[in-house]
Parts: sequence; C-alpha cells; structure tokens
Amino acid sequence: MNVFGLDVGGSGIKGAPVDTTTGKLLTERFRIPTPQPASPEAMIATAAEVVAHFAWQGPIGCGFPAVVKAGVVHTAANIDPSWIGRDLAGDLSTALGQPVVAINDADAAGMAEIRWGAGRGVDGVVLMVTLGTGIGTALFVKGQLVPNTELGHTEIRGKEAEKRAADRVREQKNLSWKEYAERVDEYLDTMERLLWPDVIIIGGGVSKDADKFFPRLTVRATIVPAQMLNNAGIAGAALAAVAEPAVPPEPPVATMPPAATNPGA
Ligand code: BGC
Repeated sequence: MNVFGLDVGGSGIKGAPVDTTTGKLLTERFRIPTPQPASPEAMIATAAEVVAHFAWQGPIGCGFPAVVKAGVVHTAANIDPSWIGRDLAGDLSTALGQPVVAINDADAAGMAEIRWGAGRGVDGVVLMVTLGTGIGTALFVKGQLVPNTELGHTEIRGKEAEKRAADRVREQKNLSWKEYAERVDEYLDTMERLLWPDVIIIGGGVSKDADKFFPRLTVRATIVPAQMLNNAGIAGAALAAVAEPAVPPEPPVATMPPAATNPGA
C-alpha cells in the first residue's frame, strides 16, 4: 500500500510517498524549512505545500514533534505554544482533503526502525533516541510501542536533557565530537539506569556521523545508528497511517448525546 509520509520537525517539514510494505520512499523527499514562529496556521500551510508538491491523493501519516494523542497535540517544547489542544489530524485532513493519522515524530521514526531498520527482529526492550532540534524517544517492548514517552525532557543535573544533548546544542555551542559524545553518554547513561534497554537506536541527522562519537559511548546496551537515517520519520509516519484509523477529511458534525435520564429521581 502506498501512503504519504509527512515528517514535521522543529527545523524542516518533509515528505514523500512511501511503499508501506518495504518502507522505501517512492520518490525523493521534498523539504521546506519550518516557518518561524511555528504557529499552527503557518505549519499546516507549509505541510500542505509539501503534499501539494506531489499532488498526492490518498492516506497520509504525519509525525509531529510533540505528544499527540488521538490526533490532538498536548505539548509544545520546540513549536509555538498555541499548538497545545489543536486537533492536528483533523486540521491537517481538512487542509489537505485527505485522511490523516498523526503521531509523535520519534514514535514514527522508531516504528520504521523496528519494522525495517536497526530494530528489526530485536526481541527485548528497544529505545529509539532521536537527536535533532530536541531529543525524541520511542520505547518498544518486544516490538510494541509505548507511545509518547518524552524522555528527552528527563532532568539531568537540574536541566532538561534535550537542552544539554540535542544536536542543536552541539551546533549552537560548536561542540567538538568528544564534548558532544560526553553529553550524549551522560544522557544515555541516565536512560540506562531507568529503563535498562537491550538496544538503543540513535536517530536524527547526527546518526550519519555515528563513527565520530559512538566509539566514546560507554553504556552497556548495544548502540546502533538508525539504518534509515533521515527517512525513518517519513516512512514511520506512513506506517502509522496503515496501523491506525485515519481522521476523515470532513469529520461528522458532533451531535449532542441524548439527555441523561435518572430513573431514581
Ligand atoms: C518533543 C518531543 C519530540 C522531540 C523530537 C521534544 O522536544 O517534546 O515530542 O519527539 O522533541 O522532535
């Protein structure tokens, strides 16, 4: 089945049609920088541009950098706070005129790695960590996702982990790979003490530089770079649309439930 995968990030909005049996992108992906401020209107309009680039008609899966439950956004660490409470799946499906399923971006990337990439066939506890604008996490137990884990916000020495070890911090502070490896190692060590994963998959753009910092990591778990590199988010978002029921383009008008009757009154 072919599904459009949309990966909405703090710095870029990208997408491509995906073959959800193989996880392969059917064409090269198309990317537009995330508008600033990253307001719902601006981001939805940019997402619509990405989809329009392919003249896509059909189901769409969207990964989004926040807690997303039943299509609704609940947090806003690296996006405009006005996102909180927005029905992302509903608003996107209305804007695009296609059915949309929305999930957390790291969960999407993790699903792709578990199905087709570095986590394939691993029968234990797998933690996917995406190092990008923030730190995203996806936790799998025997291949089953525990959604919206948000472990990038775990505090380390009184400060959120993603403010210490996201790839954006490496770039902003111009850290050497040795300095950055120390930060990532401290974070992974904290995760290890809490979760004892068997395998940790490192994703995000930085995974292509694995050879520059992996040798300095000291955790006990097996650490592997994401195999699908930056395409995991797109492929996983498409996969989510196959796994979950989509929000239809025009949701039915809400009807009031019948008035409650209280026979005992
Ligand atoms: C957000 C997560 C997201 C991660 C990576 C964090 O700041 O809270 O929901 O998965 O960034 O984008």
